[in-house]
Amino acid sequence: MPEGRSFYITTPIFYPSDVPHIGHGYTEVAADVLARWHRQAGDDTWLLTGTDEHGQKMLRTATANDMGPREWADRLVRESWLPLLETLDIANDDFIRTTQERHERGVAAFVQRLFDTGFIEAGDYEGYYCVGCEEYKQTSELVSGTGRFEGQLVCAIHSIPVELLQERNYFFRMSEFQDRLLALYEERPDFVQPESARNEVMQFVRSGLSDLSISRSTFDWGVKVPWDERHIVYVWFDALLNYVTAIGYDGDEATFARRWPAVHLVGKDILRFHAVIWPAMLLAAGLDVPKQVFAHGWLLVGGEKMSKSKLTGIAPTQITDTFGSDAFRYYFLRAIPFGQDGSFSWEDLAARYQAELANGFGNLASRVLAMVGRYRDGVVPAATEAGESDLRIREVVRASAIEADLAIERMAPHDAVAAIWRIVDDLNLYLTQEEPWALAKRPEAAGRLDAVLATAAEGLRALAVLLSPVIPKACAKLWAALGAEPALGPLLQQPIRAAGDWGQLPAGTRVGTLEPLFPRIEQEALSA
Ligand code: MSP
Repeated sequence: MPEGRSFYITTPIFYPSDVPHIGHGYTEVAADVLARWHRQAGDDTWLLTGTDEHGQKMLRTATANDMGPREWADRLVRESWLPLLETLDIANDDFIRTTQERHERGVAAFVQRLFDTGFIEAGDYEGYYCVGCEEYKQTSELVSGTGRFEGQLVCAIHSIPVELLQERNYFFRMSEFQDRLLALYEERPDFVQPESARNEVMQFVRSGLSDLSISRSTFDWGVKVPWDERHIVYVWFDALLNYVTAIGYDGDEATFARRWPAVHLVGKDILRFHAVIWPAMLLAAGLDVPKQVFAHGWLLVGGEKMSKSKLTGIAPTQITDTFGSDAFRYYFLRAIPFGQDGSFSWEDLAARYQAELANGFGNLASRVLAMVGRYRDGVVPAATEAGESDLRIREVVRASAIEADLAIERMAPHDAVAAIWRIVDDLNLYLTQEEPWALAKRPEAAGRLDAVLATAAEGLRALAVLLSPVIPKACAKLWAALGAEPALGPLLQQPIRAAGDWGQLPAGTRVGTLEPLFPRIEQEALSA
């Protein structure tokens, strides 16, 4: 496949202090669907994910579990975070851990560069620190505690008490970048998206930027500040740099030039780090700012952000064990407009699984293949008598494929899935109206039956290609059953931007049978 334009997409790197929940899975899936789409379009794609292993939160959790932080991280990465990628069928190209040598070396080189050019200097700081966020907080971001934290100031996000810290630290002169950042948001409206996120960031930066404390000396789990080894680099300053250290910032100029800049997907709670601090760091170092920072919403349970610390965390395997990874991927992308919050409910998941995946798509695929088997001995016929209704299907396929690609471009995967689903719905309607089972009973209608079966099979060909970034397992099964590979090649090499071009599956293709792609789920499994 020819290498097209670069598409480098990242997820946040996760704290492996705890196990993943479906909120983390959601970001992984969204990034993976976008990456798979671009890869299949022939873009020079790279998907990076990983873990954020330094800082106080990691150190404290490890200590509480009688382990060293490195050991703790190793264990959680091995037992929980790498398996998450398997569970959700994520085709990442790299996995960075901030304890890796390539990263630590890059962080040291980066801070040294900023120190040498005068963007980092020593100073004193006193402020409230939230270990949950790993961030100093303004008093406006704190609320009064309740229950066992009555009488204390707590973080509005984590509902745990903040700590008053006083340190002599190194500071990044972020305040100098206010005007350049505002100009960036103005000149490149796409830089921060969606619009609500952009507005929030602009308002925040307009209200003034302070310098940022970027070192700690009260504990030592982090990257040492190269010119003063009593300090370690602040965990967020360290973590943000993963996006460049993973692609050769310190040592592999060619790869860095090929991949950078990136599209960053982040949850809205960590938007400011990515849309304010991170571009300021890059500007100070004379590097390009990211292509885009896109903030997605939260998965809510009972109206609140789902979280482990609030005991509302749901493990991704709880869903995939019953419904499979394709259903997880489909459900979260389809049900939640990307960029907005979405309430998770088992009922909604089960209902969409049954109506859309099993009855809508799965059933369509099995029916068409079974009819080609039964009425034409498993060989896709030539469509000699194409009629009005067949042409309408062609047009829907063409238009939906174009619309889906445009939706992916504007980071609206939910719209892309909805556009592709028009093909599913229209093909189902087409079969109901054309009644191939009735045509099969009338020998004089053989030409029409050929056209209907050929149209439906070609529609499935387009669906397999277009849906493969979203539900890769089901589409691989469909591709095999369609018998498309001998004529068209492997599914993952089908150029997705040409998926809507009609007439690719040749007449004479021999199809196989297809087990239900989305089998019925027993009631007991749902109530378990
Ligand atoms: N380690 C930092 C990120 C550093 S990136 C340079 C971090 N890690 S985290 O593990 O706490 O969170 C990672 C991501 O998970 C964030 O984008 C956050 O928004 C997301 N989510 C955590 N809970 C979530 C939901 N309930 N719903 C959706 N996403 C959620 O922050």
